[in-house]
Amino acid sequence: MPSPDPIITPQDWTQPLCPALLFPSPANPLAVDVGCGKGRYLLARALRCPEMNFLGIDRMGSRMHKLSRKLVRADLHHVRLAHVEAAYAVQQLLAPDSVALFTIFFPDPWPKRRHHRRRLLCPAFLDDLVIALQQGGHLHVATDHLEYFDAIAALLATDERFRSIAPYTPPPEEMTDFEVIFTGQGKPIGRASFEKL
Ligand SMILES: C[S@@+](CC[C@H](N)C(=O)[O-])C[C@H]1O[C@@H](n2cnc3c(N)ncnc32)[C@H](O)[C@@H]1O
Repeated sequence: MPSPDPIITPQDWTQPLCPALLFPSPANPLAVDVGCGKGRYLLARALRCPEMNFLGIDRMGSRMHKLSRKLVRADLHHVRLAHVEAAYAVQQLLAPDSVALFTIFFPDPWPKRRHHRRRLLCPAFLDDLVIALQQGGHLHVATDHLEYFDAIAALLATDERFRSIAPYTPPPEEMTDFEVIFTGQGKPIGRASFEKL
């Protein structure tokens, strides 16, 4: 079977995506990589986990198109990409209780205080994420920006819908493109993982 275009074009962008229209095995657990970028993690993880479905979300078209070509070359049918704003995607395109795993690796840190409101991880985004996540589903977060990391950890520490679990530490082949750069520079990485109660 030829690979479908990995970048999805839903008929209706206001309705939750239908797994049966996206994946050969729609009942498999769904992992969503938010801000997947060039997709180093997504590609490696999908190769390792054919028993899951994967959706990468990113608003940067050039990265989506490059990643799409890599997915076609690898002939992976269980990975799809949504070129869309992440907060919108999580709120509108993901059905309640449909996601087994969210990964948010190296989200843009917006370091200036006056730009903090642009950060993806905020209470409103978490409210939508928790609706889409299945009970017992996981959220993995990593960033090199330790002030943002502390803010994320504080946000989730007081959220009774989650419990903290052992942080996901990727094997070298699953490190994201940004993680490869930052670890190469010797930067410490903040990692945290959570389970939905
Ligand atoms: C710093 S890069 C990290 C990419 C990848 N996760 C990695 O670690 O290599 C952040 C990515 O998130 C995407 N992004 C940032 N904010 C976003 C948003 N609100 N919606 C969708 N994508 C977003 C950017 O386009 C970029 O590709």
